[in-house]
Amino acid sequence: MPQPTLLTGRVLRTLADPFTTHATEALRIETDWGVMLDNGLIADIGPVADLRRNWPDVTEISYGRDLICPGFVDAHVHYPQTAIIASWGKRLIDWLNSYTFPEEMRFADPAYAAEVAARYLDLTAANGTTTVCSFCTIHPTSVDALMGAAQSRGQRIVAGKTCMDRNAPDDLQDTAQSAYDDSKALLEKWHGVDRLSYAITPRFSPTSTPEQMSAIGALWAEHPECLMQTHLSEQTDEIEWVRSLYPDARDYLDTYEQHGLLGANGLYGHAIHLEPREQDRLKEVGAALVHCPTSNTFIGSGLFDMAGLKAAGQRVGLATDTGGGSSFSMLRTMAAAYEVGQLRGTPLHAAQLMWLATAGSAEALRLGDKIGTLEKGREADLVILDLASTPAIAQRTDRADDDWEEVFATIMMGDDRAVRATWIGGRVV
Ligand code: GUN
Ligand code: ZN
Repeated sequence: MPQPTLLTGRVLRTLADPFTTHATEALRIETDWGVMLDNGLIADIGPVADLRRNWPDVTEISYGRDLICPGFVDAHVHYPQTAIIASWGKRLIDWLNSYTFPEEMRFADPAYAAEVAARYLDLTAANGTTTVCSFCTIHPTSVDALMGAAQSRGQRIVAGKTCMDRNAPDDLQDTAQSAYDDSKALLEKWHGVDRLSYAITPRFSPTSTPEQMSAIGALWAEHPECLMQTHLSEQTDEIEWVRSLYPDARDYLDTYEQHGLLGANGLYGHAIHLEPREQDRLKEVGAALVHCPTSNTFIGSGLFDMAGLKAAGQRVGLATDTGGGSSFSMLRTMAAAYEVGQLRGTPLHAAQLMWLATAGSAEALRLGDKIGTLEKGREADLVILDLASTPAIAQRTDRADDDWEEVFATIMMGDDRAVRATWIGGRVV
């Protein structure tokens, strides 16, 4: 087990949801504070002087004016799309057929899956991300590869086998029965083992038959403790397609609800073009929406209504959606969320952006009692941000009137160079 370690610097404290409490009351930046790590957990947090008194003779690492934050939580990714990130010129359905499906076919090879899983976790750790919730491919080995890699790193992760039995290449299709059987076997193998959680994962309504949707819905009913992740109302063409494939459904969300795939532990990626009924129903059941801003601009999907949906009381997380999203970095993702907010006339405060990338995403994943905030008893997953990581950022922070202006400059202009260190389970990686 790692030795007890005291990290000192500026510390980001999360006291409330900054969309319902004044942003800088909800999140605070404390100077000359510290976070005490012991046994993979946060053992204490407070002013450095108090911690030194209460914890004599521990190893101390001083991060100076760096900002000690909860590790970033990326609530919707496709790790198998790592190698095809930034593929040019297509919108959703053509992008899936041209770039994504051919790449996902390669995950039938366990060696390739293991190589990409390791590369993906290296890239995300370098960007300060400590937990992701990932789609895999239809191949059970693609789940084994990511779970195994995360397990050996002591990393908290959520992942599931993607289910598809139509509208995809033959080699990338399972069946209603095999999707049920394989998902169940993987769930039993991985869910709750170490820091791993299994998410039941129908890709989206167009690539599952109603029979498969029902089979996966039945599995979720047997395991309501698991998250269920999918996609919802990302592009208008996609919504039209869903309407033609499910003529009896009231709307896109109803295609899930009719098959037992709507619930409080449901995670609905994108959720851009929602009907009022869909919004009401999502709120009523307490499902979570996941905003993927770099993806929504890159694939040309639309502008997620963060301010409106949060004001309505929706649960919302933030995500890269790698590789539809154009970055592995939650800093770049926060910047994109800010810009999308501006295009809708609702700029988000830096504290709201930081909350979305940490506690907000953790709560969306129902992991808010374990990760996402720096509190005693939480798991020791942290990112240390250098708020003057490049000359361009440093000259801006020189002019900053307060800590939040400094943080905002790093959100808007920062990348992996701003990540001084990433701690996972009490170990620096
Ligand atoms: N909808 C269904 N599959 C996908 C995917 O892999 N990426 C995105 N962005 N949307 C999807
Ligand atoms: Zn996705």
